[in-house]
Amino acid sequence: MENKLIIEEIKKLKIERNAVILSHFYTRSEVQEVADFIGDSLSLCKAAVNSKADVIVFAGVHFMAESAAIISPQKTVLLPVPDAGCPMADMVTADSLRAAKEKHPEASVVCYVNSSAAVKAESDICCTSANAINVVNSIEDREIIFIPDKNLGTFVSLHTDKKIHLWNGFCHVHENIRDENMQELKKLHPDAKFLAHPECRPEVLEFADRILSTSGIVKEVEGSGSTEFIIGTEREIVRILKKKYPDKKFYPASEKAFCYNMKKITLEAILNSLQNMEYEIHVPDNIRVKARKALDRMLEISRS
Ligand code: 13P
Ligand code: SF4
Repeated sequence: MENKLIIEEIKKLKIERNAVILSHFYTRSEVQEVADFIGDSLSLCKAAVNSKADVIVFAGVHFMAESAAIISPQKTVLLPVPDAGCPMADMVTADSLRAAKEKHPEASVVCYVNSSAAVKAESDICCTSANAINVVNSIEDREIIFIPDKNLGTFVSLHTDKKIHLWNGFCHVHENIRDENMQELKKLHPDAKFLAHPECRPEVLEFADRILSTSGIVKEVEGSGSTEFIIGTEREIVRILKKKYPDKKFYPASEKAFCYNMKKITLEAILNSLQNMEYEIHVPDNIRVKARKALDRMLEISRS
C-alpha cells in the first residue's frame, strides 16, 4: 500500500480506537508524520501519563512502551514491533542488580529509564538523560549504584560529590561517535557548536560545547544565535533540525550513529498495530507496582 493510503488508514483507526501515537525523536521521518507527540524519553513518559487516550501506540523501543504501561495501567499500550529493543537496556538484569546491591548495601540505585521493568522494580529511582544530575543530587545517600549506562554515569559523577558505582553498560549508537570524528569535524567546521548527548564516550564529551538530552539539543538550537552545529547523537536528529531550521547548518558527529531498533517501527507496523491491537505490553502487577514507585519518584522531581 502507498504511504499516503497507510497514513489515511492510521488516522481513521486512531479516531475509532481513541488512540495516540507517541514517538521518540529517533524513529523514521514518515512515522513521525503520524505521531501525536514526538519527544525524548522524559517528555514521552510525561505524555503517556497526561494522555486521555484509551490506547497508546509507542513508536519507540520496548523499555519506552513498558514505562508507559507501568505508569498508565488503565490504558492499552501497544509496541508495533515486539523485538524493537534497546541493547543497552539488556546489559543489566534484575539478578545482576541484586548482586550489586548486596556488594554495596549502603548505596541507592539510580536507574536510567533505558532498562526493563524488572530492573526498575529493583531500583530506588529512575532518571533520563534530561534529569540524571538532578535525580542523583536529590538522593540523601552518599553512595549510588548508577545503571546501566557508564557514560551517562561518568558524566553525572562530574556534577555531584556522591560516590558513584558505575555499571558496564553503553549505547552502541552513541559509542560509534569517536574522538577522531570530533578532531576532524572541529577542524572542518571551527565555528560550529558541538552539542552532544551524555551517552557519548567521555573523550568525545570533552569536545562538547553543551551536553544535553535529545530534547535539550533541539531546544538549544532554537535558542542559540549560532548558525552551525555538530550534532552528537542519533543522526535522525540532524534530519529533524535541518527541516526545522533550513537556514542553519548541521553536521552529524558520525554517520554511524544510527539506532536500527528505532527504525524497525514502520508505517505498516503501526497500521497493523492499530488494526489488530498488537503487540500489547503487559507488566505483571508485582513488578509494575515497584517499578512505578521508581518512575513516580523521578516524575515528582521533574514536574516542570
Ligand atoms: P533521550 O531521549 O532521553 O535523550 O535518550 C536518548 C536515547 O538513547 C533513547 O533511547
Ligand atoms: Fe538504546 Fe542507544 Fe537505541 Fe537509545 S539509541 S534505544 S540507548 S540503542
